[in-house]
Amino acid sequence: MIVKGSISFPGDKSISHRALMIAALSSDRSIIKNLSNGADVKSTEKCLQQCGILIERLSNNTITLNGKTFTDPKTDLDCGNSGTTIRLLAGLLAGQKINARFIGDNSLSNRPMDRIVKPLSEMSLDIQSNSGKLPISIKSSDIRGIDYKNKISSAQVKSAVLFCGLGAEGMTNYYEPVQSRDHTEIMLKNVGIDIARDKNKVRLNKLKKNPKGLNITIPGDPSTAAFFAGAAVLVPDSEITLNNILANPTRFEFFNAIRNMGVKIDVASSWNETGESVKNIKVKSSTLEAIKIGKDKIPGLIDEIPILSIIATQAMGTTEIRDAKELRVKESDRIKSIIFNLKNMGASVEEYDDGFSIHGPTPLKGAKIKTYNDHRIAMAFTVAGLIAKGTTTLDNTKCVDISFPDFFKLLESVVK
Ligand code: S3P
Repeated sequence: MIVKGSISFPGDKSISHRALMIAALSSDRSIIKNLSNGADVKSTEKCLQQCGILIERLSNNTITLNGKTFTDPKTDLDCGNSGTTIRLLAGLLAGQKINARFIGDNSLSNRPMDRIVKPLSEMSLDIQSNSGKLPISIKSSDIRGIDYKNKISSAQVKSAVLFCGLGAEGMTNYYEPVQSRDHTEIMLKNVGIDIARDKNKVRLNKLKKNPKGLNITIPGDPSTAAFFAGAAVLVPDSEITLNNILANPTRFEFFNAIRNMGVKIDVASSWNETGESVKNIKVKSSTLEAIKIGKDKIPGLIDEIPILSIIATQAMGTTEIRDAKELRVKESDRIKSIIFNLKNMGASVEEYDDGFSIHGPTPLKGAKIKTYNDHRIAMAFTVAGLIAKGTTTLDNTKCVDISFPDFFKLLESVVK
């Protein structure tokens, strides 16, 4: 078996959420192409429609949107499994003086929301939660700008504060320890909003005039492409070309990490799409060396750690991932999910409160994977199954729909 092909991906999930929300602020017509077709982005789309935003689908992945006229939703906003939907939308709707109540599925209802409740209430928003969890209710309030220093690096919290700041009196300043993904800042600047930034500091002024509409083709999702890069890295004699991949430096640490492990990555071309860097890259299988990853790199590869852990099982030496406690509050407790399944496949692993270490290389054996209904755990361990001896099965294949419904079909097309 080898992995071979030249493939493209639906638009990046983080940028897709932001494109819908930022386009909704403008009364101009926006066109968004290559929108993510995952269930999470559909949750954002549906919630915005419930708030009066007109969205028309021109094709499967192209939409037009006419915004500005936010109204109070008549029923609860169901954010499904999507942390990005609830956290960003709470800030956006607060800035537009909307009254709303947010709910979500079981996983989302157990994730921490105090991280947005705290700064948004400090901005004088009337916001109520269920002891820091969903459901959350917001009431139209006279909000004020804030100087907020976050202890964690979270693009969702940063975006919630910035979106709320668009409707707040005075300036909003936000600081984070290590720069998290900066798509919100890039896109707000592109539509003409008064925003200035310097790495991990952002400063934003109240929205005073109609922002421009968006005309964007969303670059392919690097967090999805990572599973295919992982398959090519692990299966001997493989080579895969990943086209139109978002290569924003705040999202590219997985590719830097595997390059440091010895993987050959050729950049065939690079360009810029509405302020975001995009590349076509070629990834080849190779002999792997262990690496150490800590604080500075974590935000740039947080969503890729499940697939990185599979790659680490085949690297010579001990790979250590630390300062990654945030993994415990993702769609599942990803430290627990990774350790449980890797152990079942015969890998040599050690769990820490804030990460884990993996001693390699170890041959993997087929296992019954517990996905914890987490899309990235399902995809990472499907890739592990490619190199395992014996059969690997998942207890839930449907959860891949959250970010990439075509995952199994595309993987089958490149496994020869
Ligand atoms: C996201 C930010 C990250 C990431 C999530 C998407 C975003 O979460 O894990 O999948 O689009 O802003 P945090 O902001 O909680 O780190």
